[in-house]
Amino acid sequence: MSRVDLNRVSSSLKKIAKDERLKSLFLGNEIMYTYLLKAAKRYIGGETVEDCFETAKVYNQSGIKVSIDYCGESITDQSQAISACLEFIRLADLMENNVEGSISLDLSHIGLCIDRDFAKNNLFRLLDRAKSCGLDVMISMEGADRTDDILELYTSANEIYDNAGITIQAYLERSLNDLKNIIDHCKNGKIRIVKGAYDEANSIPRGEALTERFILLCEQVIASQNKLSIATHDSEIIERLKEILRSTDPISAHTEFEMLRGVSDQMLSSLTDSGYDTRIYLIYGMQWHLYFWHRLAEHPQNVYQAIVDIGKQGL
Ligand code: FDA
Repeated sequence: MSRVDLNRVSSSLKKIAKDERLKSLFLGNEIMYTYLLKAAKRYIGGETVEDCFETAKVYNQSGIKVSIDYCGESITDQSQAISACLEFIRLADLMENNVEGSISLDLSHIGLCIDRDFAKNNLFRLLDRAKSCGLDVMISMEGADRTDDILELYTSANEIYDNAGITIQAYLERSLNDLKNIIDHCKNGKIRIVKGAYDEANSIPRGEALTERFILLCEQVIASQNKLSIATHDSEIIERLKEILRSTDPISAHTEFEMLRGVSDQMLSSLTDSGYDTRIYLIYGMQWHLYFWHRLAEHPQNVYQAIVDIGKQGL
């Protein structure tokens, strides 16, 4: 039998992730949902905020902070976007004095695909409440067709609020310039550097060039004294950045390592044990389709684990 090209598997899994018809089929059919959930549970914090808090507390007890996202994206219905915004506000209220962490969200979950001002209004409502609860809100970066809008909303939020942060994708060439603009014009906000999860034309592929770009972006944030989240599971990048941090900002109050649940939990624990600030990203809710398929796409061997999880007895 010929070997399967893992890049092609990964690309197909990303197409499944983005396919809205498959999303409706998988999430809308009770049996399908129940079985896929068995595999998704490895990566998600839970279906409800209560489940997610149980998961979060386990990490908190080991010294790891959390960032919690009520999962969902690409909402085109205004009432659904308002409901999502209210759920994020409820999350802020529930997290206060209960969970050590921050909130994370996709702006397309609270209206970016409907109208930019509508999304801005929802974002400001959330930032307002989160601020009064002592919480930061990290804005995720989505597909490249949304980058300009997301950066613009972040920049206007940053003029008023000091508790908003932004994610920058190293695989986009434009990110060097975007980061420079953020450093020059935005103060206080945390900057999270990721490789990038979407299937983008002309993006820098995984490999040496992307590793170097990721490290360069992190170095620029470190030099700017902005708060930095190094959001990767790549051990080479982590080791090199640890070295850089040793000479610039030893076990810094400005820098943390952040990872996705179920990917490299052991590596995150060992960073915590070595004294670094660490955070785990947890999603909750029922709209985990995109998130789950992206985790398989990033490491197609995870499909085998998913099959084992689905085949396990009990629900
Ligand atoms: P890479 O994919 O090269 O993986 C490095 C190594 O990590 C692999 O060799 C493997 O050992 C391990 N690994 C990675 N993924 C794995 C998996 N699913 N299962 C098992 N092992 C795995 N993206 C985006 O476009 N917008 C965003 O807003 C965010 N937000 C975000 C927040 C946080 C906290 C994190 C950690 C990541 C994101 N991402 C993201 C996702 C990010 O862009 C990227 O797709 C993943 O982090 C995987 O890339 P790595 O940097 O880990 O490198």
